[in-house]
Amino acid sequence: MYFGADYHPEHWVYPYAGTPEEPESRWDRDGQLMAQAGFNVVRMGEFCWGIAEREEGKYDFSWLRRAMDIMQRHGIKVVLGTPTASPPLWLAQQHPEILPMNERGETLHEGTRRAYCMNSDIYWEYAKKIVREMAGALGDHPQLIAWQIDNGLGGHNTEESFNAHSKKDWHSWLQAKYETVERLNEALGLRFWGQLVTDFSQVPMPMLSPTVHNPALVVDWRRFCSDTCVAFVRCQADILHEITPNLPVTTNLRALTRHFDHFDLAQVLDFVSVDSHATIKARSAENACEIDMLRSLKKEGIRTPDGECGFWVIEQKAGHVNWQEVNSLVRPGVVRLFTYQLISRGADGVLYFFFRQPRIGSEKFYGGVLNHDGKGENRVYKEIAHLGEEMKLLAPAIKDSKVAAETCILFSHDNAWSMQMTGQPQKHFNYREHIQLFHTAFHDRNIPVDFARPTEDLSRYKLVIAPSLQMLAGGEADLLKLYVQNGGTLVATCNTGLVDEHHIAPSDGFPANCTDLFGMEIVEFDPMPPGEENHLTFKGSFPATHLHPARLWCDLIEPKEAQILATYAKDFYAGRAAMTVNDFGLGKAIYIGTVSHQHFYYDLVAWLRQQCNLFPLLKVPDTIEVSMRQKGDRKIYFLLNHQNSHVRLHFYKPMHDFLTGQTFTGNYDLPSHGVLVLDETAPPEEAKPPGQAEQPEAAAQAVPVTEEGIIDNAPVPA
Ligand code: GLA
Repeated sequence: MYFGADYHPEHWVYPYAGTPEEPESRWDRDGQLMAQAGFNVVRMGEFCWGIAEREEGKYDFSWLRRAMDIMQRHGIKVVLGTPTASPPLWLAQQHPEILPMNERGETLHEGTRRAYCMNSDIYWEYAKKIVREMAGALGDHPQLIAWQIDNGLGGHNTEESFNAHSKKDWHSWLQAKYETVERLNEALGLRFWGQLVTDFSQVPMPMLSPTVHNPALVVDWRRFCSDTCVAFVRCQADILHEITPNLPVTTNLRALTRHFDHFDLAQVLDFVSVDSHATIKARSAENACEIDMLRSLKKEGIRTPDGECGFWVIEQKAGHVNWQEVNSLVRPGVVRLFTYQLISRGADGVLYFFFRQPRIGSEKFYGGVLNHDGKGENRVYKEIAHLGEEMKLLAPAIKDSKVAAETCILFSHDNAWSMQMTGQPQKHFNYREHIQLFHTAFHDRNIPVDFARPTEDLSRYKLVIAPSLQMLAGGEADLLKLYVQNGGTLVATCNTGLVDEHHIAPSDGFPANCTDLFGMEIVEFDPMPPGEENHLTFKGSFPATHLHPARLWCDLIEPKEAQILATYAKDFYAGRAAMTVNDFGLGKAIYIGTVSHQHFYYDLVAWLRQQCNLFPLLKVPDTIEVSMRQKGDRKIYFLLNHQNSHVRLHFYKPMHDFLTGQTFTGNYDLPSHGVLVLDETAPPEEAKPPGQAEQPEAAAQAVPVTEEGIIDNAPVPA
């Protein structure tokens, strides 16, 4: 388990720290404070290009080596960031053609990070040189355990750039994909509005224009930009693997915000790292959803510095940010709570951003582990140092453990890009929110969930949820059929299969290529303004606890082989099917033709649990988040209280808490923002803090009880 911070030694030299005689003298104190906080890793160097190569070809990494030496003295390992996120001024001034251009054709000028176009060959050449120099200069340092490639790839909307380099590469990309102009015209449907081309060089980039570009072209543009990002990372990964073959590479990703295919990118990395802003978000379920998605990007071939098979949180915000209108303090206990949420969902490394609030630059009012004063007497430092103590207790217990899910939610970037386009049937339909309705239902019922793209092998999952795959490729549809045919349960929803991979609508009914799978056809769909509602009337065994609305979108379903599970209650389609189930091969394909409120998804999960034999991890009050990491038969449960008040739990079997070393039975009040890390087995010797004994008497008196609000460490029957 790695625990540490993002450190910027370049901020802490004279005159901002240190003395004229010893400009770097502060670094040792920083190392001491890190060690005292239980840190064993730092990330450094990600913005150092303009310092390490002040003039072209004059490289100096000796200062960074000295900083690494100091880390060594304090027992702290190092992840180095390649500095390509922030090119030096001289490079842009010498080669202004590397600068990115926005969709209006305006150049984005030098003077900040990310001022480069990822399609620029010149930029690639310079980037390759600095990466090679850095790996050559520092790759042999004993503290170095991994590389982070670039930083915040695609941040500030730099996934795309519309300059001359991009245009050239765009045309080559299209030529490689379609080979002939005829195929290109056909696949992209360019005869619409008469936009046929006679040469690849005529294909426009989707720049600012009077109205919307052809969606097929825009999706291809996004794929092209994504492939560029992936190629840029791969190019650096290849250099780093060549020079330092034993060191894994990663980069810092965020869920659902950047326009590149995160699954593709993760394949180039040895392990995934994440930026987490969890502490400033109000809803824990949204964080949980994003963490599950990021964890799921890479499921095989993971190589972390210590051989663990999870992901890292390479930037966990240690406090407030500087980009909200009001950047309130993060409340006591909240950083700890969200740190455990990340660990409970599979993180094997957590580094706080940043170690100390800088005195210089544009992020000086961002929270840090240390305040500007650097004394180590501030509240956040003390909280994180306390966490450092807990990590020492926890690390042996969670070693080699991982999150195991039997349910998965499908997500595809192509589909997300398709739905972001204007000209949608329903502007108010939000893909992210639709996914969240499902995820929240599983999250609140303590059922672990992975994400996957439709092309993955889904056979490991009992249940697959496919919310709104509007763009569904023929091959993806075939794989879904295979999954169900072999016994899987698939749940799809409205706004599925409206177009294929070329953004062409089907001529034989919605959902495209899947009418046989679902045993029905959507003959029309009726998007509804927000605020208007239809209602669902259920047939058969669906356990409806509320009157469930049909909102935003109503598919009018014509069942063929499928059975009807629910119908609409009113409008001209009253009595028509809204929800169906079809036996297909050995499995079931369920279709929900509308969007409802959260209670519907809770009921759906209750019903699916029975259908698929799924068990919640523990039975606890609804307000407690439970996750589990598993190592063989050993299960480690994390209980998180996101409420502002305590929550009463009842243990009817003795449960051992790794953080206090105590064994709990009977009633226990989990305080506001409190965390428990529990297992049923005797605590391993190494995990017990000195002087803390078990309480066998209390355990012996434990009485089984059955009402809600009980921790029940046997699986709860459906
Ligand atoms: C990203 C970057 C950091 C910092 C934060 C601020 O995570 O990697 O350098 O700018 O954003 O939120």
